Order: sequence, then structure tokens, then C-alpha cells
Amino acid sequence: MIIAIDGPAASGKGTIARRLAALYGLPHLDTGLLYRATAAALIGADRDLYDESAAVAAARGLGLTDFDEVVLRSREMGEAASIVAAMPGVRHALLEAQRAFAARPGGAVLDGRDIGTVVCPRADVKIFVTASAAARAQRRALELAQRGERADYAAILADIQKRDARDSERTAAPLRPAEDAVRLDTTPLGVEAAVAEAARIVESARVRA
Ligand code: DC
Repeated sequence: MIIAIDGPAASGKGTIARRLAALYGLPHLDTGLLYRATAAALIGADRDLYDESAAVAAARGLGLTDFDEVVLRSREMGEAASIVAAMPGVRHALLEAQRAFAARPGGAVLDGRDIGTVVCPRADVKIFVTASAAARAQRRALELAQRGERADYAAILADIQKRDARDSERTAAPLRPAEDAVRLDTTPLGVEAAVAEAARIVESARVRA
């Protein structure tokens, strides 16, 4: 069973994907980390983030184990990832590894922006997770504060809106729900309720299959 989870930054898709993977005993790939690691490799090599040929080379040469996940998950790296993710060459360079992951025996859970539309258009279950920008900014601020990092709500909200615009308006695999995706709005939901709803969506897809 392949489960594709897409949605904007801080919508809760990562948590939902991890929890579904644990529930069904499937491997999980957070595809955003691939774009974040590509950006980190470029920054580490002192290259311009807008240099597409350097970005493509970084994506091709990616060794995820070389990176510190805390650094990759920072706000700055999310912003940098969104820049390299708009480049068709970078997306192409990362496509095969994502498809190979999805083709594991037994299936997999992948989360990102284009899993249901481009990476796994034939996924068994597609969930498009949304939440209002205000709710997402609030969650991100709380998460940062819990980690002891500076959390300026207004800056986080502006960042989320900028990233939404860049991810949705790009021509290469823009963020949009697949036609056959089930939408899950987590704005009014806590983590447990959101996970339960996602599991219900998976179960009803399994009944239909
Ligand atoms: O999900 P995230 O915040 O870790 O993603 C970081 C950036 O990577 C995001 O702004 C857009 C890009 N991305 C993408 O274009 N396609 C994916 N499948 C995953 C992430």
C-alpha cells in the first residue's frame, strides 16, 4: 500500500505521515528533507542558491547521512529548500530516488508537495492536508518555543505565506491536490484527532480497493 500525503508547510502532514507509517508498519520518507539537504549542500559549498546547475549537481550527489536533521529542519533551510525546489532540474534529479522508495515491497508512506500528483500518481491513498495559515504559524511558533528557539509569530506567518506562494505558483510540480486526493483540514483538530481522521481515510480507501 502506497500512501501519499501532500500539503503546505506546517499543515501537520509530517506528523500524520509518521503516525500512519507506524500504524501500518510501513517505511516513511519525508521528501522535504531531500530539498532541504540539496539547499544545505549548496550553502555548505558556498554556492548561489539560484545557480540551477550547481543545485542539480548537489541534488544528484546527495548523501542524506551527511546532514544534521536539526539544521535541515530550521526555518532558514525551509526557505532555501523552497527556492531550489522550484527548479525543474532539481525535481527531476530527486524523482527516481523517491519512486524507488515508494516501490518497496509492502509499500511506503511519502509526504511532500507533489507525491499524489507527480511522484506516485497511482498511490493507493492520497491525502491533501491543509490548515489555515494562522493555525500553521501558531503551531510552528509553539514547536520552536518548545525547542527553546526564538519564535516570532509575525515573522513565522510571513514566512509561511511566502513559502505557500512560491510552492503553489511555480510551474514545476506546483503544490496542488491530486484530483483523487481526500482533503483533510486540520485547522480545528488536535494531533490525535487529525491522525484518527487520516487513518479513517486510509481504511475507507482499503475497503474500496
Ligand atoms: O515539507 P518541507 O517544509 O520540509 O519542504 C521544504 C520545501 O521543499 C518546501 O517549501 C517545498 C519543497 N518541497 C517540494 O517542492 N516538493 C516536495 N515533495 C517536498 C518539499
